[in-house]
Amino acid sequence: MTVPGAVQGSPVAKSLKDGGTIEPVREILWGTSQGVRKYETPEEFPPDMRKLVVKLMVVQADTEFASIQQHRPWLDKAPTLEDRWIESRIIADESRHGLQACRILREFGEEGQRLIDDLLVRREGDHKLDAFNMPFDRWSDVGAFTCFVDRVGVYQLRAFQECSFGPLARAMPLMLSEEQLHLNFGASVLRRMVQDGPKYYGSKKEAQESVLKWYPRALDMFGHSNSETSRRAIEFGLKRWTNEEARHRYIEETRAIVSSIGLELPPEEFDRRVL
Ligand SMILES: [Fe+2]
Ligand SMILES: [Fe+2]
Repeated sequence: MTVPGAVQGSPVAKSLKDGGTIEPVREILWGTSQGVRKYETPEEFPPDMRKLVVKLMVVQADTEFASIQQHRPWLDKAPTLEDRWIESRIIADESRHGLQACRILREFGEEGQRLIDDLLVRREGDHKLDAFNMPFDRWSDVGAFTCFVDRVGVYQLRAFQECSFGPLARAMPLMLSEEQLHLNFGASVLRRMVQDGPKYYGSKKEAQESVLKWYPRALDMFGHSNSETSRRAIEFGLKRWTNEEARHRYIEETRAIVSSIGLELPPEEFDRRVL
């Protein structure tokens, strides 16, 4: 299914400079209910949408809380003072993102609260996606994780931009701007390891090994290529792209970044678990 170009021509794209006001988009921009007013509460959802939104928000919150656990040991082990400060920012940002996803889950009453309670006791090994059950063994893992895994997170958030559920759509701009810091930081850690080697920290070899460790897990995060869930999410106006479309764009983007750093990506099929 293709998503109509209406997204680009939406009132949000009109800048103040062009004499526009910032008008919120009130109608659903794609999917089977295109043109209808966005949903503001779960009571307004069409049948079956409730289950899907809950599922998507649980996965979203789970990744946010898991990454806090992964980053935590590096708060006072990162090589430079600036790196430690950014680690603390990332942890604060991910906490806020987790809270934001849980606020949406709270819209689902008791069911939502039960899911939140369960999310808060999950530890390494309990998380839904493999990328979030792996520890950061070395500093290069922090660089590769934020460069690759957070970047997938950005794709997932962009897919929700201007989606049909108002509270979710409105949470996106701030989350996206915070995520941008994380992935720029990841690329800069890898770049410094390659260019400055031990003068900064570690080596190009370590950076390359971490690319091989995290890149396949990042590609897996997009989900199965023929996923029924992603097809339905588009129909409901929740997501803009299929898993395969998003993964393809991501591969193009990461290829350019990684080669500019002086590292190499493995082939797309290397060490993959979710195809
Ligand atoms: Fe996040
Ligand atoms: Fe992040």
